[in-house]
Amino acid sequence: MGNSRCLYPGSFDPVTRGHMDIIRRAARMFDEVVVGVLHNPEKQGCFPVPKRVEMLEKACRAIPNVRVISYGGLLARCTKEMGISVVVRGVRGVADLESETAMARINGQLNPGLETVFLPASPETNEISASMVRQLASFGADLAPYVPEQVLPDILAAFERIPEMNKEG
Ligand code: COA
Repeated sequence: MGNSRCLYPGSFDPVTRGHMDIIRRAARMFDEVVVGVLHNPEKQGCFPVPKRVEMLEKACRAIPNVRVISYGGLLARCTKEMGISVVVRGVRGVADLESETAMARINGQLNPGLETVFLPASPETNEISASMVRQLASFGADLAPYVPEQVLPDILAAFERIPEMNKEG
């Protein structure tokens, strides 16, 4: 298989169990997974990028072949600069597939030879999204089923909740 590497890009605002499912599975398929916090111009950020990187690093600590980076420009340029030729994206259903296919084609045009591999989200994480997590956090709901346990305190701190309050639901 040689020295295979992939980039798993996303907003990760914040990292969820859905992202972790994809990262774990990609880490079994590739020698190295570079998780990249990139900028989605259509989304207003919640967590600062360095905080997203820190949370991803905490969540991925037990997976030795995962590295976390951030990049402020185009995904096509990021992969070119890093010499990475495979991008991994998770898809949760037909809606994701449509937009992800368009994105994969454009990235392939900007960086010829760049391939995008889609992994279907697992049934357990299919309904999770970062915006849902942020909404639940703002209302003080229990986030444990949706985010990796290592980052739960960071998210609660950001929303100024204490864990006991969250149990109320
Ligand atoms: N299970 C559950 N949920 C998942 C998931 C999975 N496996 N994978 C993603 N999600 C959710 C995320 O939580 C997120 O939820 P949200 O919309 O509520 O925030 C959503 O699905 C997708 O987000 P994510 O995968 O984190 O990234 P994104 O779609 O916001 O990121 C970039 C897209 C950053 C990769 C893209 O904007 C990009 O490449 N930017 C760089 C600029 C560029 O090159 N632009 C041209 C692209 S053609």
